[in-house]
Amino acid sequence: MPLITNNEQRTTNNLDITRIRQDFPILNQTLYGKPLAYFDNGATTQKPQVVLDTITHFYNSINANIHRGVHKLSEESTKAYEEARETVRSFINAKNTNEVIFTSGATASINMVAFSFGETFVHEGDEVIVSEMEHHSNIVPWQMLCERKKAKLIVLPFDDNGELIIDKLDELITSKTRILAVTHVSNSLGTVNPIKEIIKRAHKYNVPVLIDGAQGVKHGIVDVQDLDADFYAIAGHKIYGPTGIGVLYGKEKLLNAMVPWQGGGDMISTVSFEKTVYNELPFKFEAGTANYIGAAGLSSAIKYYKSVGIEAATAYEMELLNYATSKLLSIDGLRIIGNAQHKAPIVSFLVDNIHPYDTGMILDKMGIAVRTGNHCTQPVIDHFGIDGTVRASLAFYNTFEEIDRLIDGVKKIKEMFG
Ligand code: ALA
Repeated sequence: MPLITNNEQRTTNNLDITRIRQDFPILNQTLYGKPLAYFDNGATTQKPQVVLDTITHFYNSINANIHRGVHKLSEESTKAYEEARETVRSFINAKNTNEVIFTSGATASINMVAFSFGETFVHEGDEVIVSEMEHHSNIVPWQMLCERKKAKLIVLPFDDNGELIIDKLDELITSKTRILAVTHVSNSLGTVNPIKEIIKRAHKYNVPVLIDGAQGVKHGIVDVQDLDADFYAIAGHKIYGPTGIGVLYGKEKLLNAMVPWQGGGDMISTVSFEKTVYNELPFKFEAGTANYIGAAGLSSAIKYYKSVGIEAATAYEMELLNYATSKLLSIDGLRIIGNAQHKAPIVSFLVDNIHPYDTGMILDKMGIAVRTGNHCTQPVIDHFGIDGTVRASLAFYNTFEEIDRLIDGVKKIKEMFG
């Protein structure tokens, strides 16, 4: 898609952005007397009113613990929770709901696999591969596993454009490789990794693959069967849902073979002091009272996202990205970190020698919310030998006008710093 260089080429892919923005009450406010321009969607997305209504309604009218009571409310609550599981299943095209585990977020999903898969399949001397562009949450749990098991962490590097050097996989994967963990979309570089190809290459050597989908699932349709992903981690709050709810997709065969992560209520079938028999999937991995209201909120968010139109939203976001990229690059001394050919609507940049923190602080005073720093990807920042970046991460409720404000803001900051 060519870069959009002037206003005449602005389109919205038939999305009524003005109307869509009315669905997000938080967007309609001023900060420091300026309208809010929210460009921190990589950290968390805003929530449409329908999600807030779902949560309020649940607390006001249905709330009761799930899988426990024979009473009406518990039945309804359980039904809503299991319906949410089905909404997620259909959203990612999992084969069945046994493969959809609710967690507290993408971090918990990855930790669960690192523990449960690790305890079952990783032994002393084995190897685990992660990529150089991973979020800390897809590095540290594997490091902890490797320490526990005396296994080795191997790193798949990326090049200076921010693209994984996937040809290296053939040399990095050995007979000791037990799992490969890689992100779908880099939260700091915006790179969309060719995960289908990566999975195919790993499977050639019978190595299962975990995909960190925290940023991936909100920029296009994800079909776990088509990808042939073994595990796919999802964060609810990054896809217009509430905080504290996430999903681990896992292939049933693998999940069945793995030991549970946490012990407690719901994950058991029978308990005695002599022996506990674990529950079947998906409950085996859902110890304790689940975040059933969060799950209902996530289900509502997915339905909302689908009603906007995932393909139209993604296409519009790409137009915003192209527009922002070309406008930013027209600023003398501005450098974009992450120039992969295939990117999600995330743009990380630096202006001259101005510290990203200063840029972020001044943009904030203009009502423009961006993230600054290492974005929980310290190895990415180290790769480029920089202190951090300024990151604008876009969503379909952002507008071209907001991007114009970002560009004007950056130009003003550049002038201020001479
Ligand atoms: N992982 C989130 C981000 O990239 C918090 O900002």
